[in-house]
Amino acid sequence: MGINKTVSVLGLGRMGSALASALVDAGYDVTVWNRSDKPAPPNTKRAATPEEAFKSDVVVTCLSTYDVQEPLLTNEIKTLVNLTSGTPEEARATAEWAKANGVEYVDGVIMAVPQQIGTKQARILYSGQQEHHVLQAFGEPVHVGDDPGMAALYDLALLGIMWSAFGGYLQAVALLGTAGVTPQQFTPAAVDFLNEMGTLLPEMGEETQHKNYETDVSALDINVAGLRMLAEASRQQGIDTTVPQALHDLFQRAQANGHGAHSIASVIEVIR
Ligand SMILES: NC(=O)c1ccc[n+]([C@@H]2O[C@H](COP(=O)([O-])OP(=O)(O)OC[C@H]3O[C@@H](n4cnc5c(N)ncnc54)[C@H](OP(=O)(O)O)[C@@H]3O)[C@@H](O)[C@H]2O)c1
Repeated sequence: MGINKTVSVLGLGRMGSALASALVDAGYDVTVWNRSDKPAPPNTKRAATPEEAFKSDVVVTCLSTYDVQEPLLTNEIKTLVNLTSGTPEEARATAEWAKANGVEYVDGVIMAVPQQIGTKQARILYSGQQEHHVLQAFGEPVHVGDDPGMAALYDLALLGIMWSAFGGYLQAVALLGTAGVTPQQFTPAAVDFLNEMGTLLPEMGEETQHKNYETDVSALDINVAGLRMLAEASRQQGIDTTVPQALHDLFQRAQANGHGAHSIASVIEVIR
């Protein structure tokens, strides 16, 4: 599988370096290019220019954003496996560019940290009509749709959950820190709670789909009151209130629209 195939990786950041190493481990002949003079991973060749890297059968890009990637791409590329994060529109525009320039195109996103690359824990979501065997060197490829923008949409949607949860966790660490509780003391309870809350998502998803917000679990009213208390307690303890206040304001808008007795899922009516 893939042996004797030449692959270039553009970008030797944290993720690009991990991708290049995983390709070496999978038996590919790997060339790397990076803007600045970062050390190349063991057993890779360094290209002096992107054009030199484009001689490979496959080019994998993993740069910080599309803004910096776009000016580097040319129609000398044979197959482009684009793993740079972006918006769905950016992914679709790159797919269009590839089609117009005779470049085979695979759009993917990496739902993992660099340390997981090359293991089955690393989910690589990809979309569009094409799949490519190099993705298997990085982890577990999962096709999420024929629209080339779909992988980017999944990526941002899932990261949105992560950013909200991490923002909430850091608020909690800061709040408990004002009372001398260390992250080590508190974090096990946070992990247990987050796991438990994750089990509520399927039901919440159902409620949003059927717009049925009747609840015997917990009404929006008490959650708005709770968020007001969290913002107030944060203020009293002298820490930032951005995270709880933003959620309070959002939930309160749903409450003002008549959803006070409904479940938290009803907040989607405001978001939509
Ligand atoms: N790290 C993660 O956990 C993770 C997880 C999933 C997805 N990703 C995605 O993977 C991509 C790379 O992330 P990373 O963590 O590897 O970032 P990083 O460590 O900051 O590396 C960024 C890369 O982009 C290059 N770059 C930045 N500006 C450039 C420019 N103007 N011209 C040419 N190259 C430029 C950098 O080159 P220099 O070395 O010369 O600065 C470097 O190779 C991002 O789209 C990110 O969202 C990362």
